[in-house]
Amino acid sequence: MPRAGPIDLAPVDFGAPGFGDLYDELPLWSAPFGLWILDRVPLSPTQTVLDLGSGTGFLAIELAERCGPGATVIAVDPWHEAMQRLQRKIAQRGLGNIRLLEQDAAAIELPDASVDVIVSNLGVNNFDDPARVVRRCARLARRGAQLLLTTNLVGHMAEFYEVYRAVLLQTGQADRLPLLEAHVAHRATVDSLSALLETGGFEIEAVERGSFRLRYATGAALLSHHFVRLGFLQAWKNFATPGREAETFAALESALNGEAERRGELALTIPTAGVQARRR
Ligand SMILES: C[S@@+](CC[C@H](N)C(=O)[O-])C[C@H]1O[C@@H](n2cnc3c(N)ncnc32)[C@H](O)[C@@H]1O
Repeated sequence: MPRAGPIDLAPVDFGAPGFGDLYDELPLWSAPFGLWILDRVPLSPTQTVLDLGSGTGFLAIELAERCGPGATVIAVDPWHEAMQRLQRKIAQRGLGNIRLLEQDAAAIELPDASVDVIVSNLGVNNFDDPARVVRRCARLARRGAQLLLTTNLVGHMAEFYEVYRAVLLQTGQADRLPLLEAHVAHRATVDSLSALLETGGFEIEAVERGSFRLRYATGAALLSHHFVRLGFLQAWKNFATPGREAETFAALESALNGEAERRGELALTIPTAGVQARRR
């Protein structure tokens, strides 16, 4: 069994510089999806794992630690700031078995058939060319290698989009509805995911659907929430007629506030899928 050395029994220094900054190890949004992967991913002490769209790397770190020093985890993401943070977390933990590739997953250069497990938590919706990424994975994966990916699905925040549709109609912006509908439809479905993987050289073994809710007290709380601003607000802004964004968002906030009053809260459904596939 590969070992890095004796188990480190020294106490953890909670007061070390930067310790608090790195204590929050993952975005809350990523957690329910990531836990699904961690519950199913093969763990072997010598495997090579590829984490596509690793972000700040909680999954790569978790796999590196859970598999141990004889395994290798390769975290791939073109987002420079995220990779820098991941590098700091790796240094803080003293991990020697994670490699970072700061680049597009569609262009990874590794030996053919050198990867045993591929994971991607919430990656696929974000790749410019997911089909190219999957084809590249098929080349890098050994025959029989496992691929586990998670995503939110079409139907994401359906309650919010219903209110937005009504607001566009009430404010004379029906011509903007096709933009909203195209955005709603761009998210994955189980069928589109399965076709993507099957076409790319993987055989689907299991698909699990689930859902959770994001809850807000008011429309204002929802529209001002940090994660909403980070992940969704700019796309939502584009549904409004250029020059009418402020007016549209005031109407949207008011309509969402009305919903929250009627229902006691705003609860948005996030439909999820976890897919397990195997390299043919
Ligand atoms: C929603 S985040 C998920 C991050 C992380 N897996 C998590 O669960 O917290 C999507 C990630 O995909 C990355 N990404 C976007 N395009 C990519 C590409 N072509 N290749 C690799 N990663 C990409 C983004 O930079 C971002 O970090």
